Amino acid sequence: MWMYLLLFVVAPLVSAQTFSCGPCPQVNVQQPFDLQRYLGRWFEITKLPASFERGKCIEANYALRKDGTIQVINKQMEIPGTLTPIEGTAVVKNQSEPAKLGVGFSYLSPVGSYWVLYTDYTSVSVVYSCTDILRVFRVEFAWILARNRTLSVETRARAEAELQRAGVKLCQLIPTDQSGCDLNML
Ligand SMILES: *[C@@H]1O[C@H](CO)[C@@H](O)[C@H](O)[C@H]1NC(C)=O
Ligand SMILES: *[C@@H]1O[C@H](CO)[C@@H](O)[C@H](O)[C@H]1NC(C)=O
Repeated sequence: MWMYLLLFVVAPLVSAQTFSCGPCPQVNVQQPFDLQRYLGRWFEITKLPASFERGKCIEANYALRKDGTIQVINKQMEIPGTLTPIEGTAVVKNQSEPAKLGVGFSYLSPVGSYWVLYTDYTSVSVVYSCTDILRVFRVEFAWILARNRTLSVETRARAEAELQRAGVKLCQLIPTDQSGCDLNML
């Protein structure tokens, strides 16, 4: 009964975005940042709650377009056996800060920030996004991405430390289910 009550009260909160009081914090991004090495396929390991990401097997693919923008194809499995893709565009707004990207998924939705706090390009990436709302509230997203569907304990700890430095509370992170994702195996 108490467990049921707890779930009832907590569930709406965890399914929402992460709102906090106060403006976005000052955070350090990776410098220098090599976009070319960053391109390619990344799997989502854990994240702050995001209403647009409810499925499992979430992955992102980044590729350079001829016009210099970055094609973003995110995929997630909401129905077993079906990976649903969504395409967006990322841009480097200021070439002196290449690790600070902006990403949009439609002409209607505003461009959100996508800041690479840390990456070694070959195993892990730590991404942070924060939007000020009237300098009173902020909405935050954060992701730990990996080149593999699983991450070693040491690499994960390194990534989590980066998020902590940006003020993200690790207890708010929700792990992404990366099991049963190989469509050929179904
Ligand atoms: C680009 O980034 C540099 C370094 O942070 C900054 O000094 C400069 O004002 C920025 N330029 C624009 C147009 O925002
Ligand atoms: C990814 O997983 C494969 C197979 O488990 C392993 O051989 C490889 O070392 C892993 N790569 C990284 C970067 O962890």
